[in-house]
Amino acid sequence: MEVIIRPGPEQTAQLAALFIAHEIKQHSKLVLGLATGRTMERIYAILVNMHKNDGLDFSKCYSFNLDEYIGLPTENKNSYRSYMNYHLFHHININMINTHVPNGMAKDLKAEAKNYEKQIQKLGGIDLQLLGIGETGHIGFNEPLSALMSRTRDKSLTPRTRKQNAEMFGGDPNKVPTRALTMGVGTILEARSILLIALGKSKASILAKAIEGPITSMISASALQLHSSCKILVDETAASNLSGRKYYDWVFQNEPEYAHYR
Ligand code: F6R
Repeated sequence: MEVIIRPGPEQTAQLAALFIAHEIKQHSKLVLGLATGRTMERIYAILVNMHKNDGLDFSKCYSFNLDEYIGLPTENKNSYRSYMNYHLFHHININMINTHVPNGMAKDLKAEAKNYEKQIQKLGGIDLQLLGIGETGHIGFNEPLSALMSRTRDKSLTPRTRKQNAEMFGGDPNKVPTRALTMGVGTILEARSILLIALGKSKASILAKAIEGPITSMISASALQLHSSCKILVDETAASNLSGRKYYDWVFQNEPEYAHYR
């Protein structure tokens, strides 16, 4: 794992977009694992700009989103399918047929979850997985006590997560759906590489526990310590509780892999 700290949210999002663009250019076919949420909005805006102004080509990309609320029709503006169309898919040249978001309206959620995993396998697995982190330490919607080997399934959301996401539902946590279909921690860990982005003070405490604390199912993001190719990209405020800061900066300044990004 490497932790890269940038001064502010814009610089952090910019670097995340550069990493993603690099992967897109390297692969003739790239399977992206995508996340939603406020953190990703800045990154998607930069990727859209890169497509429009620099010709970044998404035509050979496939995508699988981490999660979707259960019971929200895709046309609902708060569904993650709507989010993805609005912030990314409708502004780039990805083939919509190649974009996947779990179907939270499926009658048989277990069958939908199983089929989602099958589709990921069929395309050869996820090459690059983008992640945010929730205040509960969730990645995807893997709330505390999610098994570290869990697969795509339906999951209840904690009151804290519903409060975190209330802004999009007129500020009322009770309007946030209670359940979601989400990739499991085990599904996420199978991605060939992972990029987690965290911005802002509200993430500082949980981020430090996830990176520097013990691996525990109470904090799903701590499972990323097991992954062999994981970058954590954060701004100053999200990094404020990290105790190994000096060392992380030293690695970023000295790893040849980062020469182009410093
Ligand atoms: C969203 C997702 C979540 C978010 C996390 C952070 O698809 O899977 O894990 O990444 O809740 O959300 P923001 O970026 O809104 O703070």
